[in-house]
Amino acid sequence: MAYLNDHYLKLKAGYLFPEIARRVRVFCEQNADATKRLIRCGIGDVTEPLPPATIEAMHQAVDEMARRETFRGYGPEQGYEFLRHAIAQNDYRDHGADVADDEIFISDGSKCDTGNILDVLGHQNRIAISDPVYPVYVDTNVMAGHTGEADESGAYDGIVYLPCTPENGFIPEPPKEPVDVIYLCSPNNPTGAAATRAQLDAWVNYAQANKSIILFDAAYEAYISSPAIPHSIYEIPRARECAIEFRSCSKNGGFTGVRCAFTVVPKTLKATTSRGEQKPLYPLWLRRMATKFNGVSYIVQRGAEALYSPAGKAQVRALIEHYLGNAEVLVAGARAAGLTVYGGVNAPYIWVQTPNGLSSWQAFDKILNEANVVITPGGGFGSKGEGYFRISAFNSRANAEEVARRMKALKW
Ligand code: MLT
Repeated sequence: MAYLNDHYLKLKAGYLFPEIARRVRVFCEQNADATKRLIRCGIGDVTEPLPPATIEAMHQAVDEMARRETFRGYGPEQGYEFLRHAIAQNDYRDHGADVADDEIFISDGSKCDTGNILDVLGHQNRIAISDPVYPVYVDTNVMAGHTGEADESGAYDGIVYLPCTPENGFIPEPPKEPVDVIYLCSPNNPTGAAATRAQLDAWVNYAQANKSIILFDAAYEAYISSPAIPHSIYEIPRARECAIEFRSCSKNGGFTGVRCAFTVVPKTLKATTSRGEQKPLYPLWLRRMATKFNGVSYIVQRGAEALYSPAGKAQVRALIEHYLGNAEVLVAGARAAGLTVYGGVNAPYIWVQTPNGLSSWQAFDKILNEANVVITPGGGFGSKGEGYFRISAFNSRANAEEVARRMKALKW
């Protein structure tokens, strides 16, 4: 007899984005005319083509693969040195953060990495997660058996939820109780809030005091436009002893369909064995990657390396400015409609309060039916996301302007 993983049965109906896609499909089947007007601002998927520097580098890499002398088979599981060096130098050392090339692990996505990291962490950890939050952090902990059942609001027994509200600027404060693993995402998905240096300092101090580990998701780092906001947790002294950082080429280089990301595991980061000894996590993650992963393709890694060339950097900047420009248009449109709006300044997400006490799925249905725009209901990100919805700025400028117009025209 084969047993299944019972923990999967605790998961709520469906992963948020497939559920939205399903509802939109039903809407399209029933409303052929409205379908032509449909604008998708739901999932945070990029719309603009890859930077030309990346295209060129990938073409060149394909040509290399076409010749016996330059053909490559399996690459290093941790990623090619040329890419790890470009990342460590440009994203960290050039900004005063001490990260070595071999502390970078190239992967096919931050979604996978934030889930896979649980492989090297103990099951006895007490996990703290912001609410609202990117659903992957919660669901992967449920799958790993780190939680009990969900209650009516969708909150799982065993997780310490850190409420993110307008009162704390949607950045969670360290809890009064000790927790072992903390997920932080800044700039934040879904609220668009970005943590200040003082807020990150407080978290690093907390982690040091409690021997906890911060899992810092910085996938939206490129969108930081306020000069005082740290781009990396390693800008905070002593973070190398308590934090793992996740970054991605998806939202800066437009790699959502190409797949390339990386995780930084400092060699100075230790966790506790069940016998109470402090041991580095680095060799465990290296072993995990060598055993379960064969690396990202050479062609993709060359494409990612090109994001760090002078031309690539300028092209990435232009992409970010395009999406942040959309965010500005959307924020202005939602405000002009009388809505209360957060985010959209250091992130490609706009977090909007639903008016008149509407639930977030009611707002989703209204905006879909009356404005033919797809947004993401805040309740899908956690109980504290109820009463909000998220608008993604990943779109063409024309679409962003049209969404702003339609938001203004909506009668709430
Ligand atoms: C989102 O819409 O929250 C993101 O696209 C999810 C992701 O990056 O996996």
